[in-house]
Amino acid sequence: MTNNNTVYIDQLKHHVEKEVTLAGWLYRGRASGKVQFLIVRDGTGLCQCVVEKGKIADELFDQLKHLGQESSLSVTGTVRADERSVGGHELAITGVQIVAPAEGYPITPKAHGIDFLLKHRHLHFRSQQQWCIGKVRHTVVDAIRRFYNDNGFTLIDTPIFTTVVGEDQTSLFEVDYFGNPLHLTQTGQLYLESAAMSYGRVYCFGPTFRAEKSKTRRHLTEFWMVEPEVAFIDLDGLLELAENFVSYIVERVLQDNRSELETLGADIPMLERIKPPFYRLTYTEAVDILTGPKAKEFLAQELSELQSEKQTTEARIAELEQQQGGQMKQWKKDKIAAELIDLRSALAEIDTRIENNPKHARLAADFRWGKDLGGSDETIISKMHDKPVFVTHYPKAAKAFYMKSDREDERVVENFDMLAPAGFGEIIGGSVREDDYDRLLARVHDQGLKPETYDWYLDLRKYGSVPHGGFGLGVERTLAWIASEKHIRQCIPFPRMRDKVYI
Ligand code: 4AD
Ligand code: MG
Repeated sequence: MTNNNTVYIDQLKHHVEKEVTLAGWLYRGRASGKVQFLIVRDGTGLCQCVVEKGKIADELFDQLKHLGQESSLSVTGTVRADERSVGGHELAITGVQIVAPAEGYPITPKAHGIDFLLKHRHLHFRSQQQWCIGKVRHTVVDAIRRFYNDNGFTLIDTPIFTTVVGEDQTSLFEVDYFGNPLHLTQTGQLYLESAAMSYGRVYCFGPTFRAEKSKTRRHLTEFWMVEPEVAFIDLDGLLELAENFVSYIVERVLQDNRSELETLGADIPMLERIKPPFYRLTYTEAVDILTGPKAKEFLAQELSELQSEKQTTEARIAELEQQQGGQMKQWKKDKIAAELIDLRSALAEIDTRIENNPKHARLAADFRWGKDLGGSDETIISKMHDKPVFVTHYPKAAKAFYMKSDREDERVVENFDMLAPAGFGEIIGGSVREDDYDRLLARVHDQGLKPETYDWYLDLRKYGSVPHGGFGLGVERTLAWIASEKHIRQCIPFPRMRDKVYI
C-alpha cells in the first residue's frame, strides 16, 4: 500500500465512481491520438486505465507513450463500471507515478517457444496463462488440506530423507548422508502406515522425488503428492474416499476459479460432470477393452477426426500466410504471426498424434495380461470415459511389494489407479496394504529388498495388525487435467524434468 487510497483491482467493484490508486505493472499499452489505454496488472487482476491528453502533464503523457511493458507504476483515477472492459471496470486517470521503468522486457505479447519461456520462468510467472494456473493450483492445494482436515484426518509430516524404498528401486535419488547412502522420498506411505496405527486416519502432503527414466508430459522428477492412509478400510472404502476427494477438489475450483478456467480454455462442462460415482473396471476388464473391438473402433474414429482436424488447420495456415503478404498495421501483422505460431505447433501435435495412433492401436491389441498398463493404454481407457475411471486388481508382479494380494485370486492385488478422463491418465495410485507378517516378509524377499531395513515396517504387522490402505494423488497431474494443460511442467512453479532443470 503506497497510500490510503490504494486498492486492489479485484476490489474495484466496491469503489465505483470513487477515486482510487492502483499499484502495479504495465501489462500492455496502446495509444490512439489523444487517448492512451494502459492495461495495468497488480497481482489480483487486470484493469484498463484510460489516459486523456490534458488530464495529466503533457510531458508525462508523452513519457507514458514510450513506457515499456512491465514498468512498475501507480495510477490514480475514477472507477467506472464497464462491461466491455477486462475485469468489468476501467479507470479514468487523473494521475500517474512511474515507479521504475522497464525496457526491452523479453516476453512480448507475440508467441514464444516453450524452451524460451522455461528459461524465463521467473518472468513468465507474470503472464496471464501462468498466473491463472497458479491461482487454480492454490485452490487445489487449499481444497486438499480442507478435505482431510474437515474429515477427521490428522496431518503427519513424513521425512524427505528416507531409509526405505517406497515404490520402485529404479527411480531413487541417492544422497550421501554423512557417508551413508539415503534417498529422497518417493512416497510418505510407509511412515504414514505407522502413523495410521496411532491416529486412525492420517495424511501427508509434500514434495516427492523420482529419478524417472521417462521423459514424458506426465513426469517430473520433483512433484507434490498428498497421501491419505486409513486404518480399518477395504478397497471399496478407498474408492469411495478417492471419488469424494477428487469431486470436492473439482467443485472448489469451479466455485473459486471459473474465470481462470475460462481464460485457460478448460473443459468446464467436463468438470461439472465430476460427481460420484466414478467408473469402476478391473484390470482384467481393462485388458479386454484394450485388446477387443471397442478400443479398435475408438482409435479408428479418433484417426479420422485427427485427419479432418489436420485439413482445417492446414487450410487456416494457408489463408493466414496469404494475408501476411498484404499491407497492414503492425499490430495486425503481430496478431497473424502469433496465430501462425500457435497453429503450426497445433499442426505438429496433430501430426504426432496421427503418427502415434497406429502404434498405440498395435500396443493395445498386443497387450498381454500381466504387464502394467502403459501410458498409451491409460490414455485410451481414459479417453473412452467421460468421468474418471478406477482400474482395480492389477497383477501382483507388476506392482509394489506392500500391496495386499486378493485372497480369492492370488495373482492380483487389491489396488487401484484412478484415471482422469479426456486422455489425461493416472492421477491417483493406491491400495490396501499387506497386513499379514509372513506374506509381507516373503514379498520383501521376492523383490530383493533388504529385510533388516524393513524391520520397523514389519513390526506394524506384529503388534495389532489391521486391514488398512491409502492412496497418493499427484498435484501437478490433477491440475493439468483440471486446467486442460497438456504438459505438467506448466503446473508447478519451477519444474524439474529429467532432461533439464532451467532455473
Ligand atoms: O502411483 P504412485 O507411484 O503411488 C504411490 O506413490 C503410493 N505410495 C501412494 C500411496 O498409496 N500412498 O504415485 C501416486 C501419484 C500418481 O498417481 C501420480 O499422480 C503422481 O503420484 N506421480 C507423479 N506425478 C508427476 N511426476 C511423476 N514422476 C510422478 N510419479 C507419480
Ligand atoms: Mg502409479
